Amino acid sequence: MTRAAVVCGLGGAVPSTAVPNSALAAQLDTSDAWIRARTGIRRRYVIAPGEATSDLAVAAGRRALDSARRTTGDPHADHTTDLVVLATSTPDHPCPATAPAVAHRLGLSGVAAFDVGAVCTGFLYALATAASMITAGAAQRALVIGADTFSTILDPADRTTRAIFGDGAGAVVLRAGTDDEPGALLGFDLGSDGSGAELITVRAGGSRQRSTATPPPAGDEFFAMEGRSVFTEAVLNMSKSAHTLLDRIGWRGTDLDRLVAHQANIRILRAVGEQLGLAEDQLAVNLDRVGNTVAASVPLALADAAIRRTLRPGDRVLLTGFGGGLTWGSTALHWPSALHVEPVPGMADPL
Ligand code: COA
Repeated sequence: MTRAAVVCGLGGAVPSTAVPNSALAAQLDTSDAWIRARTGIRRRYVIAPGEATSDLAVAAGRRALDSARRTTGDPHADHTTDLVVLATSTPDHPCPATAPAVAHRLGLSGVAAFDVGAVCTGFLYALATAASMITAGAAQRALVIGADTFSTILDPADRTTRAIFGDGAGAVVLRAGTDDEPGALLGFDLGSDGSGAELITVRAGGSRQRSTATPPPAGDEFFAMEGRSVFTEAVLNMSKSAHTLLDRIGWRGTDLDRLVAHQANIRILRAVGEQLGLAEDQLAVNLDRVGNTVAASVPLALADAAIRRTLRPGDRVLLTGFGGGLTWGSTALHWPSALHVEPVPGMADPL
């Protein structure tokens, strides 16, 4: 038995403004039928003017800390939280990182706090970073948040990206424990391929463009994606990463009870599920209600499955993600018993 990071808290948040497919169809050359058939998405949420990523991160973080207090029965559990890692590619400001402000607003001033950027794989990268710090003895308890507000970087006229992305945040609390405990993260597979950097990008706004000291070409400030190539890469790399992780920890695909994969597209989820030999009812799905929430996607899907009790104590669960970079990552755990997770307001609203 060795030291490990153990999941002991979970929470999520979405903004209050819901955007159903019908609202997009009223503005753009698209339809509810196309979006549902090609992506499985029926609704997403967007922040209001003046709101920011940290507002969602704080809401999700607060719920996860509350979940950890109730789950562990320790009302003072926050006092031992000494690390906040925030995965985001839509920070409140280009500089500084958003995590210290989030920690401060959660009453965790003074703790180590930093951002991790791996787009839709960000939460898996943040989880691996925090878990490694816990196993190394550099942290005792970590709040790991995935939060993004892609509505702020989408081209309002781009029907493809506006149909897919939504805003949200999800968070997990990790505590120091041992690898034989339910909830222990059993290992990680992380990877990247920078040759595919152009497939998912915001061309303007970084040093490459700003160093030219000229205004960027029109549209370069918006998020751009090569949908078809991304689809193929997502299926390939999530399946490969999941298999690598399973080999590493000695599980087979058929040992899994549940797959919580990045919520990009229902067709991507089905394809990855098939590669692992899983039935459709073993896939966690909440993209129909929140869309692709980028770094929030995996923890929000996890929270949704826990709230709906499709995750049961002892279940063998694999988390996998894929995103810009290109990047990918996976981890696995036995689902812990008695994890107290509060409903995420909005996420369960009828469609
Ligand atoms: N409504 C109506 N038509 C749309 C549309 C929309 N919202 N978005 C795209 N289309 C059109 C395209 O313009 C294209 O038209 P054309 O044939 O006249 O050129 C047509 O639909 C087919 O486009 P295609 O890209 O082949 O569709 P697709 O079945 O591959 O679905 C995506 C497009 C974007 C939904 C799909 O490729 C996808 O999900 N990719 C992965 C995206 C993703 O997950 N990104 C984040 C990863 S981390």
